[in-house]
Amino acid sequence: MLLLDGKATALKIRQELKDTITTLCHKGLRAPGLAVILAGNDPASEIYVRNKEKACEGAGIRTITSRLPATVSQAELLALIAKANQRNDIDGILVQLPLPAHLDTAECLLSILPDKDVDGFHPDNAGRLLLGLPGLRPCTPQGILELLARYGLACAGKRAVIVGRSNIVGKPLALMLAQPGPVGNATVTLCHSQSEDLADHCRNADFLFLAVGRPKMFGREMIKTGACVVDVGINRTPEGICGDADFEAIKNQTCAITPVPGGVGPMTIAMLIKNTVQAWQAHLGLC
Ligand code: GUN
Repeated sequence: MLLLDGKATALKIRQELKDTITTLCHKGLRAPGLAVILAGNDPASEIYVRNKEKACEGAGIRTITSRLPATVSQAELLALIAKANQRNDIDGILVQLPLPAHLDTAECLLSILPDKDVDGFHPDNAGRLLLGLPGLRPCTPQGILELLARYGLACAGKRAVIVGRSNIVGKPLALMLAQPGPVGNATVTLCHSQSEDLADHCRNADFLFLAVGRPKMFGREMIKTGACVVDVGINRTPEGICGDADFEAIKNQTCAITPVPGGVGPMTIAMLIKNTVQAWQAHLGLC
């Protein structure tokens, strides 16, 4: 069993991106800038945003975080995004999700300029992904593919099964795995809460991607021997953080597996930095 160390891989990528930023800034170019918007006080979102801020600052990205009360209005949020859209020193805008229930998430995401959409959630970037055109890609699926690539694990021609059809993970991951190219070319099945015979689908998977948010839901009977398991779940339980897979039960049955924590999570943050650098270079006219 190969442990896919997302923490170490992400640190390496972050160093590479930091080097890119340092080199360009030494040539006199301005530093990249990221606007982060956090509305409400969801404790998990607080932690994610703090980790993103720390990682971005460490790489040389100026980060401006707006922490808004849970009662913030849609108009106030849109005004803040509009201001960040206008600023020449801001290359990326990140609205942490989920937003408080009274806010319109789709309208917020639509109001972010597509070339500053470092989460890759804007319909323009989602459409570009669908069509195989260049654009900013969602961080978690991008991080998963980067992790597999850096371990030399290729999905081409293999059965890839995804469980979970969210806009953030499952749907974009399905598109990325299916597309032609060195990290794609998989035969993709996208399972969800209404799927019949879920265990059969999972047992068929050469690559199994779990993104449902149910602690230790996937045990021995769901995993093909020799499969590669990528666990996107981050579940807080009284015993600590765990993934959607029952890691201890299945690890010796797999050929490769991501731990939780220390697997996909750190890769998501590394890809946020990568996307911010990509947006920055585009704004500077470098690509
Ligand atoms: N909430 C859960 N994952 C993400 C993410 O990748 N980006 C944002 N903005 N919110 C999230």
